[in-house]
Amino acid sequence: MAKNKLKIGVLFGGKSAEHDVSVVSAKNIIGALDKSKYQIYPIKVHRDGSFDLKSLKKVDFVFPVLHGPYGEDGSMQGLLKILKKPFVGPSVLGSAVGMDKDVMKRLFRDAKIPIGKFVVIRSVDEKIPFEKIQKILGPSVFVKPANMGSSVGINKVENKKDWDKALKDAFLYDTKVIVEETIIGQEIECSVIGNENIIVSALGEIVPKNDFYSYKAKYIAKDGAALIIPARLPKAVTRKVQRIAAEVFKTLCCEGMGRVDFFVTKKGKIYVNEINTIPGFTEISMYPKLWEADGITTTKLLDRLIDLGLERFEREQNLKTIVS
Ligand SMILES: Nc1ncnc2c1ncn2[C@@H]1O[C@H](COP(=O)(O)OP(=O)(O)O)[C@@H](O)[C@H]1O
Ligand SMILES: [Mg+2]
Repeated sequence: MAKNKLKIGVLFGGKSAEHDVSVVSAKNIIGALDKSKYQIYPIKVHRDGSFDLKSLKKVDFVFPVLHGPYGEDGSMQGLLKILKKPFVGPSVLGSAVGMDKDVMKRLFRDAKIPIGKFVVIRSVDEKIPFEKIQKILGPSVFVKPANMGSSVGINKVENKKDWDKALKDAFLYDTKVIVEETIIGQEIECSVIGNENIIVSALGEIVPKNDFYSYKAKYIAKDGAALIIPARLPKAVTRKVQRIAAEVFKTLCCEGMGRVDFFVTKKGKIYVNEINTIPGFTEISMYPKLWEADGITTTKLLDRLIDLGLERFEREQNLKTIVS
């Protein structure tokens, strides 16, 4: 019987500032995977990006539990495609556009998905005065590396003094930086699962203890943020957020899984913040928690994600590669 088990390679770690978060996510995923169905092969991607390609080649299926650049941005997905390995999560395109906060937002704009105002800066030498930014975006802004996660390199800036520092910090992690207007509202998250047929979860709410949902609030401070499920929103707003979450997933050509994050103002105005195509699976992570609230255990959730990966692979394998 053991021979028939699907050999699953769990990629974790990675050449990303989110390496440590990935280790925790992978530990939880490995713990929850159904051992009667799967033979699990943990494959560590070291901080320099190196890993054992031989182990990857021998598995039937891959679960990339890698957050951030080199893991969540389409590069690993490209390698898996070339190696003909089915895998969890979006393919190259969905992963790439879901990682880049600038390209993502431009696609949202095209699809008329509600977002806040933003400005993109492509070089640390592009000396834009803070007064000019404030004229466009308002008195308070968020400065972020375009491609990153876990709030790494992100700063809220409200005065000229912090502007240069925030830019320098963001440019440490990416060659492109996005500056956004600060949106004051509830932070809401929605889990999405599916390929062509998309299912959305109940909504969760994050209430950071301090200024915003920083790296520290996410993973270091014990009570950095409170998680409230279901989110405290009127039914009509909840439904609208869920509808937009599905639209975000489709607009960004995503498959498998995604967690769509929002801000909802007091007046009920909805803004999409971002999608995470390999969302966290730590103890405090919303993606699995929201499904649990809907009665789906993480073990069952992982079964479904694996099925979706296999289904997508099958579909791709059936495409013609020769003209006849
Ligand atoms: N435009 C914004 N307005 C208000 N808060 C923001 C804004 N952008 C980010 N934040 C805060 O910073 C956190 C991290 O930003 P986010 O864009 O989600 O980056 P990451 O991809 O690192 O999670 C958010 O969870 C939120 O608390
Ligand atoms: Mg986020």
